[in-house]
Amino acid sequence: MTKPKLRVFSGIQPTGDLHIGNYIGALKVWAKNQDLYDNIFCVVDLHAITIPEAIKPVDFKKQIKQTVALYLACGLDPKKSAIFVQSTVPAHTELAWILNCITPVSWLEKMTQYKSKAKNRQSVGAGLLNYPVLMAADILLYQTDLVPVGDDQKQHVEIARDIAKRFNSIFGQTFRLPRSLIRQEGARIMGLDDPTQKMSKSIASQKADHAIFLSDRPEIIRRKIARAVTDNKNELLFKKASLGIKNLLTLYQIFSGKSQSVIEKLLTDKGYGFLKNEVSEAIIAELSPIQEQYQKIVKDEKLLQEILNRGTKKVEKIALKTLSDVKKKIGLS
Ligand code: TYM
Repeated sequence: MTKPKLRVFSGIQPTGDLHIGNYIGALKVWAKNQDLYDNIFCVVDLHAITIPEAIKPVDFKKQIKQTVALYLACGLDPKKSAIFVQSTVPAHTELAWILNCITPVSWLEKMTQYKSKAKNRQSVGAGLLNYPVLMAADILLYQTDLVPVGDDQKQHVEIARDIAKRFNSIFGQTFRLPRSLIRQEGARIMGLDDPTQKMSKSIASQKADHAIFLSDRPEIIRRKIARAVTDNKNELLFKKASLGIKNLLTLYQIFSGKSQSVIEKLLTDKGYGFLKNEVSEAIIAELSPIQEQYQKIVKDEKLLQEILNRGTKKVEKIALKTLSDVKKKIGLS
């Protein structure tokens, strides 16, 4: 008998345009590994509302559909991966409440993402503090083995694991313990304007040259890469390069598919201008077909809705089974 495939779960917030960090850390890995795993991918709309000012209610529904269209354009195949929207499966919020009751606030206050998002904010919503608990519910509901994410989400997957362990130790074995699946190169793509900062949607919304969006046209990509921070050393070896150049080399490696040694040979006696040109063209070559596909898919409302309905139907069964086990363990049913 063949061994059952490991279950993969992951998600992205439908907050505006996705950038190449989201693509490299998450979407590209999801699409590439689809045949290896039993896949569930979610658009996490309830996480997106933890920063309410980032949401425009009139546009939100459209943004959720656009994110689904982008999942498909990046290569997710609904025959191999269940795709759904988080808020259409209420078991997520129900389990999140239960998990909130066994999660120490001190664990949540230590989360790096919470600390950085709460900083400089006059008032912080309880949802922002509880963000990792909802994420734990997302993951644990499906008895997930692997969570493919960028490096910035490692801590959130670890706390999901800790919450699962705590629940299991109080109420008896219930949840499988998940692990993060993080790529070696490109786990943390840095900002083009400031390579000490992770490329992020929130910085990109304020600084024009911070990130490359998946929707950027070729001339915009060329302009942003041309303006990317470098140095005056002309050092093009992966191990010796400064942060900005290392980031560009990594982007080149990922988008060209070439190995580090091939890249270093190719760049011998070349300057930063040559590197930048190669990086831009490699990014354009990969994003152009995705953009073309996206334009076709996003118009097909009916198809998108059908895919989501099928995804919801499939995952709901798994979610309800776990939730029912949890309630029995606690004595709620
Ligand atoms: P979000 O939307 O902030 O990020 C989506 C994915 O993109 C990755 N990522 C990056 N990877 C490499 N370099 C970067 N600069 C970069 N920026 C973002 C993130 O690591 C993430 O994988 N909390 C999650 C959403 C979520 C989730 C889940 C994920 C909610 N529930 C359950 C997995 C499982 C998040 O960061 O979304």
